[in-house]
Amino acid sequence: MDKNTFYITTAISYPNGAPHIGHAYEAIATDAIARFMRLSGKDVLFVTGTDEHGLKMEQTARGLGMETRALADKNSALFKEMCAVFKISHDRFIRTTDDDHKLACQELWRRMKANGDIYLDRYEGWYSVRDEAYYDESELKAGQGGEKLSPQGTPVEWTVEESYFFRLSNYQQKLLDLYNAQKTFIQPESRLNEIVSFVKSGLRDLSISRTSFKWGVPVPDDERHVMYVWVDALTNYLTAAGYPDAGYKKYWPANTHIIGKDIVRFHAVYWPAFLMSAGIALPEQIFGHGFLLNRGEKMSKSTGNVVDPIELAKRYGTDAVRWYLLSKVSFGEDGSYSAEAIIETHNADLANSFGNLVQRVFSFIAKNLEGRIPTYGSLIIGDAAFLEAIGKMDEQKSKPIHSIHSPYLDDLRSWMNEYMISQVSSSWLNAVFLCNQYVDTHAPWALRKTDPVRMETVLAVLLDAIRRLAIAAQPFIPDAAAKALAMFDQHEPLNFDALQDATWYLRWIASGFIIAPPTAIFPRLELQESPPL
Ligand code: MSP
Repeated sequence: MDKNTFYITTAISYPNGAPHIGHAYEAIATDAIARFMRLSGKDVLFVTGTDEHGLKMEQTARGLGMETRALADKNSALFKEMCAVFKISHDRFIRTTDDDHKLACQELWRRMKANGDIYLDRYEGWYSVRDEAYYDESELKAGQGGEKLSPQGTPVEWTVEESYFFRLSNYQQKLLDLYNAQKTFIQPESRLNEIVSFVKSGLRDLSISRTSFKWGVPVPDDERHVMYVWVDALTNYLTAAGYPDAGYKKYWPANTHIIGKDIVRFHAVYWPAFLMSAGIALPEQIFGHGFLLNRGEKMSKSTGNVVDPIELAKRYGTDAVRWYLLSKVSFGEDGSYSAEAIIETHNADLANSFGNLVQRVFSFIAKNLEGRIPTYGSLIIGDAAFLEAIGKMDEQKSKPIHSIHSPYLDDLRSWMNEYMISQVSSSWLNAVFLCNQYVDTHAPWALRKTDPVRMETVLAVLLDAIRRLAIAAQPFIPDAAAKALAMFDQHEPLNFDALQDATWYLRWIASGFIIAPPTAIFPRLELQESPPL
């Protein structure tokens, strides 16, 4: 039987600094997918969190004259706040300093060791603290002053240390077989080639412990060593599912790890190799999204263009930022953003299009029917064509409004299953445009005098369409969607089954609900210049 569970994760972020908009982007996109799956009836586990161990954290804390734990606490709290501000619907916020996580890491280690894949040796080679990654000499490039840099452009240092190693070399063929057999293991497909050529170029055993610092998970039976931070970090996905308790299999294997393109190698090479070694099922998919650029430029502390996402949301609203990132950045590719673009998109798509539609229809009803829910009569061809375009109504054009079939959402569902997030949102926006056209064409204000019965049908058709739009918008703009649904006296999230609900309109009428004059769902936004963002 197919599992009805859906386990999705973001990467866990280093809390060596405050979150930036790239972190918010990953959380928002993953949240939209998680919400979509929940509304489709899946039992979802959605996990995000912070990756708190390792040299980078220790060095940053030392530089700030802080305890490492205090640095982690301070910034992890900001990541949590970011999640709250953006309405991220995670089920767990994991911190790798959580007690249960240590047990999971140690159990995974023991199993890899029992399989003969861990041995003690000496590491001599290049390490980038910023990337928390080991690099081969051949991967390095020269900086402007001739200094050696990692492929990501970060400084590397020569490291010599006793270390435990993982026999990654044993997994070269197994990994290639995996990519071959599980065609969608690495998504989008464009990320696959890079990984395949990295693996084909030959895998060396991987250093997986350190002795020169203590800020990490102790290696079982050898407390002189702490685990390499990526062994610890990747294991968070198991911990959050409940590993090593047998119950972890309820959600494991994960359906998708959503991560940025810079860390695909860790997830698509090291992670499956560790899991194979430990005899644990592999995640179904690794999805490497693109990078968010600030006005087309890479964000960095030195350029001073790192935007605080919490401030951005406080200034312009959660839905405005979410909507921009989800609808205007093609998921999987790099994207650019600016405060101006967020405001412009919000005003055009949300305030002027969806907001205005809701405003027009509800205030017309409040005013002209004294809030009474319009009675719906028989549909004409124009209505049918409209509803077909919105909801692809089925063949019988004269079917009453409350039995309209809605494969529209089925299309969206199959797109969303492939994480075509921006395509789904533009399709939604097109439906909003159609609704506004319908209002203009069928002009209920003109019908008020000439044909009040027909006027009510037009309004009923519009209410039906708006409700559909609100239901479909929930994963993207949860606040606004909730406000729109509240106007239908609906105060809980509505599952997508509600789109097929044949009797809701009759029930709504029977409830005697009075439609109130609406308050604006989307106030128009203005750019706030200072302080600049
Ligand atoms: N701690 C590791 C991940 C461990 S997962 C087991 C890490 N942390 S990070 O803080 O550097 O990055 C967290 C996530 O944010 C990563 O998926 C990364 O790709 C993503 N992003 C970092 N900068 C980004 C942008 N500018 N744009 C979009 N995503 C970005 O890597």
